Amino acid sequence: MRKPFIAGNWKMNTDSASAVALAASLAEELKGVDTVDMAVCPPFVYLQSVAAALSASNIALGSQNVYFEEKGAFTGETSCGMLKDIGCAYAIMGHSERRHVMGETDELINKKVAAAISGGLLPIFCVGEQLQDREGGTTNKVVSGQIKNGLVGISAEQMQAVTVAYEPVWAIGTGLTATPQQAQEVHAMIRGLLAELYGNEIAQSVRIQYGGSAKPGNTAELMAQPDVDGLLVGGAALKVEDFAAMVKTIA
Ligand code: PGA
Repeated sequence: MRKPFIAGNWKMNTDSASAVALAASLAEELKGVDTVDMAVCPPFVYLQSVAAALSASNIALGSQNVYFEEKGAFTGETSCGMLKDIGCAYAIMGHSERRHVMGETDELINKKVAAAISGGLLPIFCVGEQLQDREGGTTNKVVSGQIKNGLVGISAEQMQAVTVAYEPVWAIGTGLTATPQQAQEVHAMIRGLLAELYGNEIAQSVRIQYGGSAKPGNTAELMAQPDVDGLLVGGAALKVEDFAAMVKTIA
């Protein structure tokens, strides 16, 4: 049985006061939830204050990115060790905004996945096709390429640390959600590919989140799909009542 896992990706939103207030309200609102794993991923500058606000809670902390080197002359970057040091359990990598706005490649993302696992962080490894891929019928090809290239050199044992997040780029922040059937099709394809790469037992144990305009109103139908194990939530994660409602629907 895969335990459902919901994570809030706050992206470049909030400020010092509202980040702490959001975390504190979620901690209060979601006290006692133990059937769903939960995490929030605030902007880097607020990680430590959010960590303090979550310290007595069941909500884990994640970063929105990470760098693969341990230390040194990498201006502007943050290492796995630093993130662990301030209490991060998870790190998002390969998010579509980093792929398509910042130009991150599969090769770079692969280094991040590997570094995170060896550094003791749990990767939330994002993949997803763009609108032209879906319209051109190449969704499976694009997503399976991202999976294979992003997981080069990752062993079956290491794979147990990884959550995959399937986020169709055309559904992110657009209000256009993939239908539950569209999500299920790609999730099943990903799980089949993981079975080829790592064997069935690992494939059955890896959690695959859906992301892309997930909100309270579509949580139940998405989560009802057999291969949808959780959600990576952007916009709706910034509202206490929405995120809490989604967690409660899943629980
Ligand atoms: P959204 O973002 O829920 O606002 O579409 C999801 C994501 O990018 O992780």
